[in-house]
Amino acid sequence: MKLQNNLFVVTGGAGGIGKAVGSTLVVKGALVALFDILPNDKGDVVAEAMGKQAVYVQVDITDSDNVKEAISKALSHFKTELDAKSGKLSGCVHCAGIAIKQEWTNNMVDSIPNFEKMLKVNTIGTFVINAHIADAINAQYPKPEGDRFFVTDDERGIIVNFASVAGHDLYARCLSYGPTKAAVLGMTRSFADYLGPSGIRVCSVSPSIVISGLTAGFSGYFQDDLTAHAAFPRKPVPAEKIVDTVLLLIEQEWINGEDIRVDGGWRLVTDRAKDREDPRVLAPGLE
Ligand SMILES: NC(=O)c1ccc[n+]([C@@H]2O[C@H](COP(=O)([O-])OP(=O)(O)OC[C@H]3O[C@@H](n4cnc5c(N)ncnc54)[C@H](O)[C@@H]3O)[C@@H](O)[C@H]2O)c1
Repeated sequence: MKLQNNLFVVTGGAGGIGKAVGSTLVVKGALVALFDILPNDKGDVVAEAMGKQAVYVQVDITDSDNVKEAISKALSHFKTELDAKSGKLSGCVHCAGIAIKQEWTNNMVDSIPNFEKMLKVNTIGTFVINAHIADAINAQYPKPEGDRFFVTDDERGIIVNFASVAGHDLYARCLSYGPTKAAVLGMTRSFADYLGPSGIRVCSVSPSIVISGLTAGFSGYFQDDLTAHAAFPRKPVPAEKIVDTVLLLIEQEWINGEDIRVDGGWRLVTDRAKDREDPRVLAPGLE
């Protein structure tokens, strides 16, 4: 998908990966709407640092009406620029997500509230964002006659979701987070199939560890885990390397319905070696 003069929404745009993605898309000539739940004063600073091609819109991605309104705001903010250069809303890089730290207990039911919170943001939020972005992209084109579905041979847009290696290798340490990200992998495939006739691709990225607000405070634990169980490189991924993968997915029209792991071959396993502590003691419980 062409970046130049087209509008892209970046959710979680005030977070670690979102900020890195947003600023690169601006450098590549795109218009960027950063969506995040943080208050306007915090988000505006992030957008202002990227210049006039970026705008911040405060939004809760789990709220369907709120997301619809945020997309309208972004489109009207950039209306003049889009009209002048025949640009369109052409995609979304969906980075918003949460991982809530919780100590393990002997009672699995203690994890239910945490699972519900992450399910809402990571899974339902992904459905809401993908649906509204796809509909807003299609709304820019003539409606098919009668009740017919959209069918086109032209590329209209791309959605890049963020899953995680924890959505592939589902293990105890990500008891609740992992399944919410496995659902993102599933949605990516089914949405790609559903939206194909509209010329909209859907892909995802699964990073290992990127040092950001989400992982702050766990770097020692993660470094040990990467050293033990990654192939190469056995260290966290710099945010700009994640951005390279996002750009590949946006620009390579033939990749669709696909997830790309960016993880140095890290495989997530519960370490049950005799000389190790019980994993429930060792793990920081990113449940
Ligand atoms: N950082 C990692 O190591 C890592 C690894 C694998 C996957 N991921 C995934 O990558 C994505 C980006 O992660 P990050 O490292 O940039 O995290 P981050 O915490 O730095 O940024 C996430 C952003 O999402 C926003 N957000 C949270 N809930 C929201 C809501 N309801 N509505 C709107 N915005 C909301 C937050 O305010 C935050 O700015 C996430 O989906 C995460 O699960 C991250």
